[in-house]
Amino acid sequence: MCGIVGYTGRDNARDIIIDGLKKLEYRGYDSAGIALLIDGEINIKKHVGGIENLENLIAGENLYSHTGIGHTRWATHGAPSDINAHPHASEDGRVAIVHNGIIENYVELKEELIKKHHVHFKSETDSEVVAHLIGIYMQESDCLEDAVFKAMGRMRGAYAIVAVSADDPDKLVAVRKDAPLIAGLGKGSNFIASDIPALLKYVKEIYLIENGEMVVVTPDSVKIFDENRNPVKRDVFHVTWDVDAAEKEGYEHFMLKEIFEQPKGISETINRRLDEDGKIKLDGISLTKEELDRFSRIYIVACGTAYHAGLVGKTIIEKFAKIPVEVDVASEFRYRDPLVDENTLFIAISQSGETLDTLAALREAKRKGARILSVVNVVGSSVARESDDVFYTWAGPEIAVASTKAYTTQLTCMYLLGLYMGLQRGTITEEFYREFIEDLSAIPQKLGDYLKKKGEIEALAKLLYNRDQVFFIGRGLDSAIAYEGSLKLKEISYINSFAIAAGELKHGTIALMEPGTLVLALATQDFLYEKMISNIQEIKARGAHVLSIAKEGNRAIESQSNEVIYIPPCRDELSPLLSVVPLQLFSYYVAKERGCNIDKPKNLAKSVTVE
Ligand code: AGP
Repeated sequence: MCGIVGYTGRDNARDIIIDGLKKLEYRGYDSAGIALLIDGEINIKKHVGGIENLENLIAGENLYSHTGIGHTRWATHGAPSDINAHPHASEDGRVAIVHNGIIENYVELKEELIKKHHVHFKSETDSEVVAHLIGIYMQESDCLEDAVFKAMGRMRGAYAIVAVSADDPDKLVAVRKDAPLIAGLGKGSNFIASDIPALLKYVKEIYLIENGEMVVVTPDSVKIFDENRNPVKRDVFHVTWDVDAAEKEGYEHFMLKEIFEQPKGISETINRRLDEDGKIKLDGISLTKEELDRFSRIYIVACGTAYHAGLVGKTIIEKFAKIPVEVDVASEFRYRDPLVDENTLFIAISQSGETLDTLAALREAKRKGARILSVVNVVGSSVARESDDVFYTWAGPEIAVASTKAYTTQLTCMYLLGLYMGLQRGTITEEFYREFIEDLSAIPQKLGDYLKKKGEIEALAKLLYNRDQVFFIGRGLDSAIAYEGSLKLKEISYINSFAIAAGELKHGTIALMEPGTLVLALATQDFLYEKMISNIQEIKARGAHVLSIAKEGNRAIESQSNEVIYIPPCRDELSPLLSVVPLQLFSYYVAKERGCNIDKPKNLAKSVTVE
C-alpha cells in the first residue's frame, strides 16, 4: 500500500503535503514525490528512499504553490527508484497523478497508449498508464473531472488516484476503488489523503469516500459523485483520534495492528497467485518439472522469525515435493562451507530483504552456483535484487520490530511453493492440491473469527505475565511454532524464554522443571497428540504450570493442563497459520502488562544490516 496526500487552498501546499506524507510513511517508504502547480506548470520532484530524501531534494528551492499532490510508495510494479516514484505525468506534462493500488489491465492499456497515441513511457509502473490516459482525455474534456471519469471507465483493479491539471488549476480530482481515500474539510483549504493521520493536524472533519466515487476538491468546495456522476450527500465524519493513534488506525501499537492484519495479508498472498482456474502462478518464476527434478537439495536460509518460517517450509516442501530440504540460520550457513552446487535451490526468506547475514549467505550460495529464490516483503530490497526469482509476501509494510504478519505470509508462501512444486513433479495429486488450496484459502476467515477472542489471551497474559522463565514445547510442526512463540515472548517482554522439541525434554532440559514453571505446550498435530499428552504429564508430574494450545474439540487435554487455548480445527499442515497467533497475542499482552516498549524493544532493530 502507499500513502497519498493532496491539498488546494490558501496556504503553502508543499509543506502541508510533505508533513502529511511523513504521517503516512507507515503505508510505504521506499520512495516519495510531490507535484505542485506553479505559474501554470506542474513541477514534479521525486526521489527513491524515505521522505527525508525528498525533503533534501527540494530544500532551498522556491516551490511556493497553493495546489499539489504527494505520494510515499510501497512498490508493487517496478523496483523503488527515482523514475518509478510517484507522481507520474502525462506525455504533455499538463496532468500529474498519484496512485495507491494496482491497475490490473495496465499492460493492454500501455500497449494501446504506445500504439495509438505514441506515448513514451518513462517508468516500469502500472500507475504511469493512469497519467497518460487522463492526459489524453483532458485534451477532449472541458474539466479535469470529465477526463478522470473517462479514464476510470478504462481501468480495472484496485486504486485510489488523485489527479491535478495545469489546465484546470486549483483543483484536485480523486477516485476510489478498493483502496482507502478521504477528503479533509478546511476553511478556504481542502485536502485529500489515503488515511486520517495525514490531515489530523489541519482538520477534524472529513468525508469518507466510498468505492466507485469521485471527489472534486477546490479551495472552497468538496463535491462527491457516484459512479454515474450523480452528486452524493455525505455526512461529515468527526475525527476524535490523536495523531499517534491514527497512524495505528486506533490500535495501541503497530504490533497489535499487524497481528490483526494477518487475515488480509494471508488472503492477499494467496489470491494474487491463483489464476482463474485456481492454479498457482508464481509471478513469473519458472520452476519447471525438469528444473525441480534436477535439484538434489533445497536450502532454506534466514534469520530469526524468517528462519522459523523455514522450519515449517522444510516439512511442507519435503512432504509435498519430495525434495530434501535443509534449513539453516544464515549466520551459520555462510561459514560452514556448505555443500552447494548448480543442483541446489537456495531459498532466502527475509521480511526486510536487507538482513546482512541472509544477504551474505545468499551471495555465498550464488558464488557456488545455486539457483536463488527469495521470499521477501519489501519490493526491490537487496535480497530481492540479488535473487534469480522473488516470491513476494503481500503483508504490506511491517513496522513493529516483532515480526507477525510477515511471518504468516512467509508461511503462506511456503505452502504455495510446496504445492506448486508437488504438482509440477507429480508428487501430489490434482485432487489433493485442490483440497489443500481450498483449506488454505479458508484460513483468513478462520483467523479473522479467532482474533475476535483476543480477550481470552489478554486475560491469560494478565494471569501469567509475572514470570522470569517460560518454556515452549511442541512436536512436529508445533516445535517450529514453539520456537517462534518463544522468540516473540523474549524479544518484546524480555522474559527468559526457551523452546524445545517436546520429545527432547527428557534428555536433559526437564531437569529445569520446578513447581510452577510455566510451559506453553502446543498440541495441534493430531498424529502426535497422544505423545504430547504424555510429555505434558511428564512435566505436570514435576509441578509445571501448563498452558496448552490445541484444536477445538480435543477436550482430553483439559484434564492435563492448567489452561487451554483452543484454535479452530484445520488440517495438521495448516495449524501453524493459526497456532502462532495466540502466541503472538500472549507475548503482546504479557509485554504490555510488563510495561515494555512493544513496537521498539530494547537492543533491537527492525532490520539487522550488520553482521
Ligand atoms: C522477528 O520478530 C525479529 N524482529 C527478527 O528475528 C527478524 O525476524 C530477523 O532479524 C530477520 O529479519 P528479516 O526477516 O527482515 O530478514
